[in-house]
Amino acid sequence: MSKIIVIGACGQIGTELVLRLRKINGNDQVIAADLRDECPAIIQNGPYIKMDVLDRSFVRDFIISESIDEVYLLAALLSATAEKNPDFAWKLNMEGLFTILDLAKEGSIKKVFWPSSIAVFGPTTPKINTPQRTVMEPSTVYGISKQAGERWCEYYFNNYGVDVRSIRYPGLISYTSLPGGGTTDYAVDIFYKAKMSEDFICFLSENTMLPMMYMDDAIRATIELMQAPSENIKIRSSYNLSGCSFTPKEIAEAIQQRNPDFRITYQPDFRQKIADSWPGSIDDEAARNDWGWKENYNIDKLVDVMLENVDISLLNKEL
Ligand code: NAD
Ligand code: SER
Repeated sequence: MSKIIVIGACGQIGTELVLRLRKINGNDQVIAADLRDECPAIIQNGPYIKMDVLDRSFVRDFIISESIDEVYLLAALLSATAEKNPDFAWKLNMEGLFTILDLAKEGSIKKVFWPSSIAVFGPTTPKINTPQRTVMEPSTVYGISKQAGERWCEYYFNNYGVDVRSIRYPGLISYTSLPGGGTTDYAVDIFYKAKMSEDFICFLSENTMLPMMYMDDAIRATIELMQAPSENIKIRSSYNLSGCSFTPKEIAEAIQQRNPDFRITYQPDFRQKIADSWPGSIDDEAARNDWGWKENYNIDKLVDVMLENVDISLLNKEL
């Protein structure tokens, strides 16, 4: 049985990934690690360690002494937060990755998962059905860090045989934990306003189409990718992955079909420029062919599950 650590475990993806990995591997086999003093109650069913991924010697000592086999490295600044602090975003998003890739190169870790993003693409990338391999000129510090990270993952695989696997996640929609400062966060925020019967002011314009995915699909994709035989993983930079694409107007209309009083207005801010540089939809044929990816959630299923499960008390807990 593999011993696993999830670094950045208290965030939007980490909380759900830890829960799913513990279900598969056993609670004690999956260590949650994050900068926070305490982890959210939902992942207190197993071990937790306070860890700063930038503290290279602490991370190295812990992983070696605990005989960790697999690392899921999630700690990062997301697109909107990163634009406000580019120097630190570059440092955080790159240094932790090198610490983990080096441990794998030395043989201390057997497998690494590191997430990339649709942010690796830029304004010169074809916007519709963006191919796996295409023009990539990201214009945000977040996108630049993800693109550089992809190159390094591939380099460590090609030159040192590091078993590193990655997905270019679309914007992720979930209700277990709040999103952490991305450009796609509006598509989560909107459900809290709908649930509170309040109007929603969207920070993107009504026709901004972006690739999105329900968290359940994203977690399943991550685990399927990590469980796939090594020889099936033909791409060691990062895989395109598609769930469903929609605009703020389309998701608002889907909510209005279920809740006719819901109202949305639009006040685009600095995040509009980031969104305008990203694809509207993604071609993920390689993931489908190589390890059998298929999404389960379309926009209707996603809206149903979010409206049913969003818990507004989370807003107070996370403040
Ligand atoms: P998040 O912001 O919700 O969570 C990140 C977690 O990392 C937080 O709990 C934070 O406390 C922790 N962290 C920050 N600095 C740390 C440090 N120095 N040491 C240890 N922990 C630290 O982010 P998320 O949405 O869960 O994203 C996780 C990863 O997935 C990131 O790499 C992100 O770029 C990527 N990703 C996310 C999305 C999305 O829509 N959520 C889309 C594409 C890619
Ligand atoms: N959801 C992420 C963001 O908006 C995409 O990587 O930053």
